[in-house]
Amino acid sequence: MSKGKRVGIVGAGNVGATVAYSLAMLGTCHEIILRDNKIEVAKGKALDMSQAAAAVRSHTVVTVAEDMSQLTDCDVVVVTAGSPRLPGMSRDDLLMINAKITKEVIHGIAKYSPNAIIIMVSNPLDAMTYVALKESGFDRSRVIGMAGILDSSRMAAFIQEKLGYGGGQIRASVMGGHGDDMVPLPRYSTVAGVPLSDVLTDDEINEIVHRTRHGGAEIVGYLKTGSAYYAPAKSTAIMVEAILKDTKQIHPCAVYLDGEYGYNDVVSGVPVMLGANGAEKIIEVTLDDKEKDMFKNSCDSVQELIDSLNNNKFFEGE
Ligand code: 2OP
Repeated sequence: MSKGKRVGIVGAGNVGATVAYSLAMLGTCHEIILRDNKIEVAKGKALDMSQAAAAVRSHTVVTVAEDMSQLTDCDVVVVTAGSPRLPGMSRDDLLMINAKITKEVIHGIAKYSPNAIIIMVSNPLDAMTYVALKESGFDRSRVIGMAGILDSSRMAAFIQEKLGYGGGQIRASVMGGHGDDMVPLPRYSTVAGVPLSDVLTDDEINEIVHRTRHGGAEIVGYLKTGSAYYAPAKSTAIMVEAILKDTKQIHPCAVYLDGEYGYNDVVSGVPVMLGANGAEKIIEVTLDDKEKDMFKNSCDSVQELIDSLNNNKFFEGE
């Protein structure tokens, strides 16, 4: 009997647990393994989700790894572990604390699930994807950050809200890092194929761009004690499914750039083709001068975080 698909999820908080729940409902994987320091809580969630899977006649079981050594032989591992972003805290404030957590987790994944594709979700997303790549030693196609699907979905929802129609027919495009200077691309966004500029004014589009950039903070402002998790989790589950089913679909994801768009040794969000081997192809979209400037700003911000890790000797002594 061939081995069923195994997905590990490190960090079973709101995002990790909701990724697990989404995947359990879809039923593509045979086993979802939760890893969290709060073992009892993870066990409770795992039982609850396995029972939900049984309710929808899904064969997926959800189990718990009591330590990283039980997270073996996964096809995909999603990393959500880290300190959450609290009100008043920028994604970048999380840099050092989450980089240390990521380093430890990634060493465990590289040891116990050496063939896995890693999907990073922890913030600051692009820098954590960079850390995961460097610490795993994996090929860059196997270390992918989740953010572009989330940011594009937010933009699509804001477009729908502004228009009052077109739901389910909106294709919004966002590139760049998952930070306040992400790069929403109205020029590549459409409603049932109709360019955005044909249905919205420049002011309306600018408002949507601004709201998309601050979409995460808007939700933190309401939740007060935590950040968004339904859309981040669903966006992650979409990536896991594309990989497990080898769909070859194009999604915006954070990947290590090695010359693409003129950048090297930095992670940023770009359209990639997802398949069984991870980020199998990076698509280079034609950007105009203004879009190139925005993309540069965004890459520069990620580069500053990487520089800060280097200045703190984060990658040394290994
Ligand atoms: C978000 O955008 C906090 O990055 C997270 O919701």
